[in-house]
Amino acid sequence: MNVLIIGGNSGVGEELLHLLSQQENTEIYVANRNGFSSMPAGLHIQTVDVTDNGFSLSLPETLDALVYCPGSINLKPFDRLALDAYRTDMEINFYGLVKVLQQAMPALRKSGNASVVAFSTVAVNTGMAFHASVASAKGAVEGLMRSLAAEYAPKVRFNIIAPSLTDTPMASGLLGNDRKKEAAAERHPLKKVGSPKHLAAMAKFLISEEGSWITGQTMHIDGGMSNLK
Ligand SMILES: NC(=O)c1ccc[n+]([C@@H]2O[C@H](COP(=O)([O-])OP(=O)(O)OC[C@H]3O[C@@H](n4cnc5c(N)ncnc54)[C@H](OP(=O)(O)O)[C@@H]3O)[C@@H](O)[C@H]2O)c1
Repeated sequence: MNVLIIGGNSGVGEELLHLLSQQENTEIYVANRNGFSSMPAGLHIQTVDVTDNGFSLSLPETLDALVYCPGSINLKPFDRLALDAYRTDMEINFYGLVKVLQQAMPALRKSGNASVVAFSTVAVNTGMAFHASVASAKGAVEGLMRSLAAEYAPKVRFNIIAPSLTDTPMASGLLGNDRKKEAAAERHPLKKVGSPKHLAAMAKFLISEEGSWITGQTMHIDGGMSNLK
């Protein structure tokens, strides 16, 4: 299978890349702004900034899976969020995904059995203070993905992973020391924060044959945060 990961050099995307590189018959295409700390062998690597206008992805003729990882955590009180903060969050979370999909849809449709995964946040379904900007942008992602799931069924599946706080470079400001990590773990019913492995394993499942009866869904991988007291 041919898989495109947008954002494969960090966090969840990097973990997914490692999982898929151990899988047989899998060609991995990966695009991010920066390079890799250690150069993985056998990948098709390109440098892309999804917030640019007019970037061009180099894609195989047929694409069986696309996983879009760029995102943001910009937590501020509403009265300190300028309009530009919303625009920035929309650019990376939502418009970047639209631009990638506009380029990738012809190759995804050729597969006949393709799958797209994008990331939301627990804060879309569960109201959380200081999340106005990122929850709005991720809400747009969820609306887009469910619309496309309806439009492209049965040929292309679209699913969303909505995580709570997960220990990746993106969350380093919130989990930067043991005290912060323990406090964050304590807020979750399962008493731990997420690991990139939890999210990458779900992405791998959703793009696999085993996940092929799932579309238009949001998978809440969040230590119980969204639905338990
Ligand atoms: N970590 C959490 O606590 C958490 C919680 C809820 C939701 N999420 C969501 O989960 C997803 C994965 O997050 P993560 O924690 O794995 O983040 P991460 O470690 O920061 O990784 C993000 C990846 O996206 C790439 N990227 C960022 N901006 C890009 C751009 N403009 N163009 C191209 N590539 C870009 C990055 O590579 P370059 O920098 O080289 O471009 C990197 O590979 C995100 O959508 C995030 O919003 C995460």
